[in-house]
Amino acid sequence: MDKANVVIIDHIQAPALKIRLENLPEVNVVGATGDPDIGFTIAERFKPELIMFNVDLPGDIGPALAERFALSFPTSSLVLLTNSDSKKVLHLALQIGAKDVITLPVDDQRLNRAIQRVLRQNSKRASFSAGKRDNSQFKTITVFSTKGGVGKTTIALNLALVIGQMTEKRAVAVDLDLCSGNLALMAGVSWKRSIKDLVDDIDSLDKELIDSYCAQHSSGLKILSAPVNPDFVGFIQAQHIENILSLLSEVFNYVVIDAPSYIHDTLIPALEAADDILIVTTLDLASVQNLKQCLDLLQRLSMGSKARVVVNRAGYSGGLKIKDIENELGMSVECVIPCNDKVSIDAVNMGKPLYSMAKHSQIGRRFEELARKIVDEEGFHEVQATAPQILGWQHTGELLK
Ligand SMILES: Nc1ncnc2c1ncn2[C@@H]1O[C@H](COP(=O)(O)OP(=O)(O)OP(=O)(O)O)[C@@H](O)[C@H]1O
Ligand SMILES: [Mg+2]
Repeated sequence: MDKANVVIIDHIQAPALKIRLENLPEVNVVGATGDPDIGFTIAERFKPELIMFNVDLPGDIGPALAERFALSFPTSSLVLLTNSDSKKVLHLALQIGAKDVITLPVDDQRLNRAIQRVLRQNSKRASFSAGKRDNSQFKTITVFSTKGGVGKTTIALNLALVIGQMTEKRAVAVDLDLCSGNLALMAGVSWKRSIKDLVDDIDSLDKELIDSYCAQHSSGLKILSAPVNPDFVGFIQAQHIENILSLLSEVFNYVVIDAPSYIHDTLIPALEAADDILIVTTLDLASVQNLKQCLDLLQRLSMGSKARVVVNRAGYSGGLKIKDIENELGMSVECVIPCNDKVSIDAVNMGKPLYSMAKHSQIGRRFEELARKIVDEEGFHEVQATAPQILGWQHTGELLK
């Protein structure tokens, strides 16, 4: 028999309830958290058969959140938990169509009976589909280039910020430049823990805890920073990164990875996990040559179809035109971000993401355009089937000379 996925959202008893429910053979607890936002994202990810939500949240926001869960997950059964035994909760349950109310503390027998009853009703419903995942609002985006200084960190940070604001979903920017990452610094956030701490705790890692390893920007964006001390980098293995990215993709709708410019084992999981790989280039020949090498690498890894080209710092190009690059690559440039040295320097010095300083300028609009393409499945151009051989810089005499 397929197990029913269950999400528990309870600010006091989530871990204890999780342990108790895991004893039930028909139940698979896919998340147990005290944070309604995390619970919501896990529910979006797993479309669980059962959501257990404690309405006694401080500040009286519980009823409104319970209604949000009921409306957002019509195919999940909602069970309200309360410590107060109040008639108000029963009334709320009737109003929003919750399947049951459980007053805490509850003994195992009553808890198990209630859950089994709800799951029995649920299994009769046509929409019941254990383990089904809805991936429409989940994406991992890796920002990549083997050339240093082209704007990977700037793009990863600002893109994550805009996507988070645009979608009002949970977004995280991950600094995978393990030796010299400066993403948190660019965002102007202070951080106590880094990816190194996550690796240290990898065996006890829990998706409910992962937020506590991230710094938070005032926009709500979470940032998982690189180790402060590059000495530790040697201990971080590809498998660690794979596990971390997999966990992140369950509790965040959007994971944006700032990849390093060096080729290292830990880069591969970041490329594999990505739905879209943004290759950043600037409009000079060295960068464009490098862009071709990146595309070639992705082709060899059978990931060519995920590649999207982003031109950064566009302005004076010494004659290199976007159209020439497109013709040469046989694929479209997805976004052209203009150069603005003054705002960029101010942004870095003030520890503010570029977007927050240049929202109403061309740069701001281009970040929004890129974010929209990523969020909207149809946003990107198809990679042309007839793309020229990536390594053949055939008719580029004019470009190269
Ligand atoms: N569109 C832009 N206009 C002007 N300056 C920019 C622009 N984008 C990035 N910069 C600046 O260029 C510099 C390099 O950017 P960034 O650190 O994002 O590149 P990177 O590819 O991550 O570099 P590294 O390979 O060292 O990690 C930074 O000082 C940044 O502020
Ligand atoms: Mg960088």
